Amino acid sequence: MKKSFLLRACACACVSLLALATIGTATAQVKKGKSRLMKTEHFMAGLIKPHSTDLKKGLDAGPATDEAWHELAVHAALLNEGSYTLMEDGRCPDTVWADAASKTLRDGSEAVLKAIDAKDIAAAKKAFGEMSKSCKACHDKHKKKD
Ligand code: HEC
Repeated sequence: MKKSFLLRACACACVSLLALATIGTATAQVKKGKSRLMKTEHFMAGLIKPHSTDLKKGLDAGPATDEAWHELAVHAALLNEGSYTLMEDGRCPDTVWADAASKTLRDGSEAVLKAIDAKDIAAAKKAFGEMSKSCKACHDKHKKKD
């Protein structure tokens, strides 16, 4: 009797500790990876947001020269690369994050890049719209409201 109580109490404590550890890690993962220095906030402010904003501006303006098309390709390629970084270093806490980064952002930016390579502005804008759904999907769950 006593032994089984102790066993159960211990099992319960272990489960609680595990749950606490998981919650702690999940929070840390969202804000920062496990070992690298960059915070998610840095990545958003320094790469995701500027490349997304400049890509949208460039698509709206309509690229007139090869150089302008090339600039748009750079933005789309970096956003695509960003979808990999968001999945690295233990940063991804759940399937909402994984879907937003490794599907919506990755596939969307790939479609934008392909449309840019084909100089198809309408297709690029449409793909940009799809790609941008990743921002809201991930933020709704993982970006803390101020
Ligand atoms: C897979 C998840 C994920 C995706 C996809 C994502 N974000 Fe974020 N973003 C976050 C998280 C988490 C934060 C909050 C970081 C923090 O405050 O620690 C954030 C914060 C931001 C911020 C605020 C940065 C700051 O300086 O505090 C901006 C701007 C931003 N995201 C833009 C975007 C845009 C634009 C997209 C889409 C093109 C996007 N994000 C896609 C997870 C994501």
